Amino acid sequence: MTPHINAKKGEIAKTVLMPGDPLRAKKIAETFLKDVKLVNEVRNMLIFTGTYKGKEVTIAGSGMGCPSIGIYSYELFNFYDVENIIRIGSAGSYKEKINLYDIYNVKEAYGDSDYAKIAANIDNRIIGSSDKLFNLIEKTATEFDIQTLSGRIHSSDVFYRHENVFSFAEKNNLDAVEMESFALFANAIKANKQAACLLTISDNLVTKEETTAEERQNNFMKMVELALETAIK
Ligand code: ADE
Repeated sequence: MTPHINAKKGEIAKTVLMPGDPLRAKKIAETFLKDVKLVNEVRNMLIFTGTYKGKEVTIAGSGMGCPSIGIYSYELFNFYDVENIIRIGSAGSYKEKINLYDIYNVKEAYGDSDYAKIAANIDNRIIGSSDKLFNLIEKTATEFDIQTLSGRIHSSDVFYRHENVFSFAEKNNLDAVEMESFALFANAIKANKQAACLLTISDNLVTKEETTAEERQNNFMKMVELALETAIK
């Protein structure tokens, strides 16, 4: 047990998929896993372990922002012997040509904060996902004929910004914005583990297009299947 997770050791699989929303973790577990067990309810940050095509996988909510995923991914890597974490989230596109529902495999995350410096002594605002896991996702996507985009995203700490973000995005070569990858990648490097992040584009900040909740749910599930197929490889 840890300060934030009361699962017993052994109740969490070596590979964990992390959506931001714990209720999405529940939905994914109910939809895709067999022999599902709820292993954490502390703060309603639901964590489920079950099997996908006979292999054990855990689905865990991460909450929003680097501080939240920072806590959960740290405890999973360091106290539960988790080897791989794939974040499965949503992102807003900074570019007109990146469309709603595109699936994005994050190569690098640009962080707003000193999280990586403080948590992992990494003095860099740009941190890469783990090559091995990134490449495994790409290979699996090809196998399942799922198109992915990849590049650098913005792991923002601030959803409601006062300034126009586009010049900042252009200067730093940022394709889209989410709020968690930077902390996850930093923790993986520090723990010598693997982390990756798949994102479904849920809104376009240029065109102001947004997905509906129903459409988002359906398209999100394609990305989830890609993550699950990668997890059992
Ligand atoms: N996740 C999805 N859309 C987002 C946005 N516009 N900003 C930050 N995170 C997001």
